[in-house]
Amino acid sequence: MQSFVVNGGRRLSGRLSVQGSKNSALPILAAAFLVNGTSIIHNVPDLSDTRCTLKILSELGCTIRKEGSTVIVNSEGAQGFEIRESLMREMRSSVVFLGAIIGRCGKAVISSPGGCEIGLRPIDLHLYAMKRLGVCVDESFGKLSCTVQNALVGEKITFSFPSVGATENAILAAVTAKGTTVIVNSAREPEISDLCDFLNKCGAKIQGAGESIITIEGVNSLQGAEHSVICDRIAASTYLVAGAVTGGDVELLNTNPAHLNSVLPVLEEAGCDIRVRCKSIRLKASRRLNRMDKIITQPYPGFPTDSQALFTTLASVAKGTSVIVENIFECRFKHVPELLRMGAKIRTEGRVAVVEGVERLYGADVHSQDLRGGAALVLAGLCAEGTTNISDIQFIDRGYADLENCLCSLNADIYRKVKQDGATKKKFTKTCSDEDYSA
Ligand code: EPU
Repeated sequence: MQSFVVNGGRRLSGRLSVQGSKNSALPILAAAFLVNGTSIIHNVPDLSDTRCTLKILSELGCTIRKEGSTVIVNSEGAQGFEIRESLMREMRSSVVFLGAIIGRCGKAVISSPGGCEIGLRPIDLHLYAMKRLGVCVDESFGKLSCTVQNALVGEKITFSFPSVGATENAILAAVTAKGTTVIVNSAREPEISDLCDFLNKCGAKIQGAGESIITIEGVNSLQGAEHSVICDRIAASTYLVAGAVTGGDVELLNTNPAHLNSVLPVLEEAGCDIRVRCKSIRLKASRRLNRMDKIITQPYPGFPTDSQALFTTLASVAKGTSVIVENIFECRFKHVPELLRMGAKIRTEGRVAVVEGVERLYGADVHSQDLRGGAALVLAGLCAEGTTNISDIQFIDRGYADLENCLCSLNADIYRKVKQDGATKKKFTKTCSDEDYSA
């Protein structure tokens, strides 16, 4: 059991290079199973979710080598087509292997995916896309057995909602299908474009990534390629909000400001000074933040649901009342009761949160229940008076590489507490003092 201990009240400042995108790395690593030979993927963040993905690849028969943040996947001879239930349960994006396995093996056996409990998260759109391409799906005893009768055949796939994962699965299954596939109402997230960039380097013929109609001309086979994963736009917005709520001066390097077009104006509305250069963003926040008019989460290019919890923390310490509407997931306000324990004033009704900003939050023992909600509690701890203990940080570890060290390098006082054999130890961090803590 691990937790974060945050001693709040320190102004964050300094420069930070932002990690590679989790939500790009996961489908790209799945794509490395589909293509033949060796793929070299750079800028892969070291997270529990990427480690789980590498485990799946290895169990499917790939050989994996890691050199720093570079992962080298050799899929030669890999013939696995079933993912163990425990690995499926470990993370939601294990489902993105479906299209890749079917594309390579013509059959796949998976079970319902796990992941953060932020809503119902069905996979009907994934299965609809597979069926359109000629896959027979048999669901029994919690297992999904998928088979292709003759060959995958390109088709028109029209999504009723631009699901990120279903779009990725459709692309992965369609790239080696016979003929042309047109995906209508596809997700437009930068992570979709990144996956398509990688696949096109491997020899795929995909057009329209980043737009709502994607056209894929199937090719006979794909060869491994070298690719660098884009920067994580949600990790970037996390560190920007950390700077904002602590009245800080933070510069993020290796980012793509264009991916934050819906987020940066909200930070400006809150009173932050934002300077954008080609690959960097500098945020200065010198006074109490202002309320934000209305934050409404939407599919990209709208305001990201993954940043909603972070901005709930920001709104909690801003001057005035902000309204936040969560449109993507049904249960994505689990951080709210925890923020209330820290002195926040928030009312939720269904998918709406009304946040009345308070002058100060106070340190408390709080409980992380999902990835971004957990990160929002860390942000609250950074600006709170006193000490905040955040438990169940395995959720946070799914998506943030070395969160505590990144924050410490910006002058935060945060450390990881590890409970082992009844004793509690403070885990070493690079820039905070490293004395052992025993309780
Ligand atoms: N949906 C369906 N049926 C489906 C698929 C999705 O009804 O078959 C619904 C979901 O229940 C949800 C909405 O559509 O209400 C959006 O789901 P989507 O499929 O777009 O999300 P996802 O692929 O499961 C990815 C990210 C999430 C991010 C969402 C939305 C990855 C690995 N995960 O999930 O990231 O919130 O897109 O942008 O790419 C996170 O990083 O913390 C995270 C949860």
